[in-house]
Amino acid sequence: MAILSMSQAPLNAITDTRVRDSFRLVPLSTQTLEGDSEDEVLELLDHPTPLHPLTQPSASASLPPKPPLPRSSGKKEHQRAGKKAKRARKRQLEDQGDPGAGKMRSRLSKKYATPFAVTIKFNAISLRAAKSAFVGARQRIREHHDRQWHLQELFDRGFDLIPWDGKTTHAIVDSEERIVSILAGRPHDPTWDDVVADATSALHEAGLLADVPKNNRQHSRGDYPTIAVGVSYGNGQMVPGNLKHTAHNETVVAALLANKSIQRIAGFANSALKFYAPKLFRFYADHVNPLFNHYPQLRRNFINSIFPAATFNCGPRVVDLEHVDSTNVPYGLCPIWAGGQFDPRLGGHLILFEFKLVIEFPPGSTVLIPSGTVRHGNVPIQQGETRYSFTQYCPGSLVRWVQYGYQSAKACSAEGKAKLIGKPEDYWKWAIGLFSKLSELQQDRTQVFKS
Ligand SMILES: [Fe+2]
Repeated sequence: MAILSMSQAPLNAITDTRVRDSFRLVPLSTQTLEGDSEDEVLELLDHPTPLHPLTQPSASASLPPKPPLPRSSGKKEHQRAGKKAKRARKRQLEDQGDPGAGKMRSRLSKKYATPFAVTIKFNAISLRAAKSAFVGARQRIREHHDRQWHLQELFDRGFDLIPWDGKTTHAIVDSEERIVSILAGRPHDPTWDDVVADATSALHEAGLLADVPKNNRQHSRGDYPTIAVGVSYGNGQMVPGNLKHTAHNETVVAALLANKSIQRIAGFANSALKFYAPKLFRFYADHVNPLFNHYPQLRRNFINSIFPAATFNCGPRVVDLEHVDSTNVPYGLCPIWAGGQFDPRLGGHLILFEFKLVIEFPPGSTVLIPSGTVRHGNVPIQQGETRYSFTQYCPGSLVRWVQYGYQSAKACSAEGKAKLIGKPEDYWKWAIGLFSKLSELQQDRTQVFKS
């Protein structure tokens, strides 16, 4: 079994390993972003393009009412909400016109200059992309393509376990110090459990209400209904466009996009990307925003997220089989949020196959992984438990479309491609450099956001 190094972990990181049952654990130390992460860290507030047309409150009128959630009240809470809104308005003004221009909040950027880290024996340069480097390589899952992996099988193959609490933020760092995954956690917010319950309820309702075709209920990732929404290109589309839904499903999708809890989850993931992968965030912004500007008819999923596409996995038992989302940007980081009610010590773990890691992934938490190149899946949950998930991503085909001058790869001449992106192998090396190195993270933030 590989032994992970915690040498990158600063401050009060625990440096030994514990043994639970028969396998080795990689212990994590305690660090939580204080304040409301998506509020205090950073937000993307630029939204020059229209939102989904049905993301108005009235869109959910046809849905059954949700059970009321406990609400905080009182003068203090009112004042807090007022201050929060004031900060949001201020940032909106700051960031208007350029979502990458948002300033790093200096207090947090100094305090959390270096996240705790788990170092793996893997070099990101080995991630497998397609020859053009715009999408991941298609990988045939030879083993367990039709059944779930269990913990003991993974331990028998030398996987290490990260017993993550779902709250403390940690970076998974490759052999050259690149942050190749982020265990972002959750905002330090006493109401977050309400957010989780509400988002879970929304996903459950969507799964019941949506008319999901069979191939989106039983698919290569598992047996549960999925609803994809946002901008895509390919599969017969001549130009990038918003995914189409039936009129009925459009209403269901609109309700999900308009759900405040889901919007908060989307924003938290966006903040984590901006904070722990600033160069990558900038790269997304430099391609996604021009795309939306170029095609004013395109609609963003969320005003507080750079990701142009998302998938709602509507449960009630979302347990992914081993797979890779090879159409995503291969050097990107895609957020995954888990909801539902399950014991994360017993199931629902995130498996990262190339990294030989299995990570406890509690409900309510967010991780960001290179889903376009790293095979991933989940350990099954227990009988009677539930699990839902919500992912965001950027299709590599959109980046390619923009880089080739708003045209298809076919339409772009070989000379044009060479001029625009150079040799694919050189491009790949450059693209891997978009992952920040741990020791350069603060410097990257400063350079990207000029904070
Ligand atoms: Fe995936």
